[in-house]
Amino acid sequence: SMKIGVLTSGGDSPGMNAAIRAVVRACEYQGVQCLGIYRGFQGLIEADFKELNARSVKNIINRGGTFLKSARCDEFKNSKGRKKAYDNLINENINALVVIGGDGTFKGATAFQKEFNFPIVGIPGTIDNDINGTDYTIGYDTALNTVVEAIDKIRDTANSHNRLFLVEVMGRDAGDIALNAGIGAGAEEILIPEQDMGLERLLESLDKSKKSGKTSSIVVVSEGDQIGKNIFELAENIEKNLKNYEVRVSVLGHIQRGGAPSCYDRVLASRLGVGAVDALLNGETNVMVGIVHNKVKLIPFAEAIKSSNQFDVSLVRVADIISI
Ligand code: F6P
Repeated sequence: SMKIGVLTSGGDSPGMNAAIRAVVRACEYQGVQCLGIYRGFQGLIEADFKELNARSVKNIINRGGTFLKSARCDEFKNSKGRKKAYDNLINENINALVVIGGDGTFKGATAFQKEFNFPIVGIPGTIDNDINGTDYTIGYDTALNTVVEAIDKIRDTANSHNRLFLVEVMGRDAGDIALNAGIGAGAEEILIPEQDMGLERLLESLDKSKKSGKTSSIVVVSEGDQIGKNIFELAENIEKNLKNYEVRVSVLGHIQRGGAPSCYDRVLASRLGVGAVDALLNGETNVMVGIVHNKVKLIPFAEAIKSSNQFDVSLVRVADIISI
């Protein structure tokens, strides 16, 4: 009989619990056993397992983080670690895996798959939205809402004190969070790694907006952006070059990873969780379940982890126009 193992790996994201819940319940619905694997690939190597049934995942659809816990696991990056993991799977009679995580997770899964030809299906869970072949990753929508809420608060102070705020947001090498939350929060400028703006142009733009009558501003800076990389230096540069600006920096940090998932993320996680179990039962492997134009689709891991550095130029145009 079939037995599916499920794990979450890499940075946690809101909605991972909802995804695990969907996987566990889809297994029960299909008459398949389900085993929870704690702490991602680390727990796979250490055989940190627990049987799960439909009732084990009650009261978690609304909770951020992942109750299975997560880890960034170095041991799984070498074949010795992966062999240990494989032996544990065989010992436990697990014959397929669902891995929930980001590109690091899918890279690990691909290596494992190549060595042992073991059935694995992935689910994209990361706030960064940096996975190819899916319009959205689980946790991204919640993170956007968290960032917008935080910037709304910062706006109060920016406005009261006539200040310029540089707000750093997460996203690793992807500007998706910055661009979309920046538009939603009404940012003056948005610095993203996909499009290097350069200090000169930023200074020019800030100078122009001051002259047009703006008294305060929010600049959203993606953590991966070149001129934003040292955000405190950027703040000093602005104060030095534009004498009439008082600048403050706010690094939002890990508040962006936590909190109750939005309804969108809960529905997405539920659809992808059910889709992952369906895929394994259909004999699929080495693929990620994603969402494209609101339809659940399968994408090969190799495609999913391709770094694309793509971004929506039309969104940048919108951002430029509405911040005039
Ligand atoms: O991938 C999610 C993410 O939060 C990125 O946005 C960020 O660059 C990174 O993880 C931070 O990782 P850690 O929590 O391990 O410091």
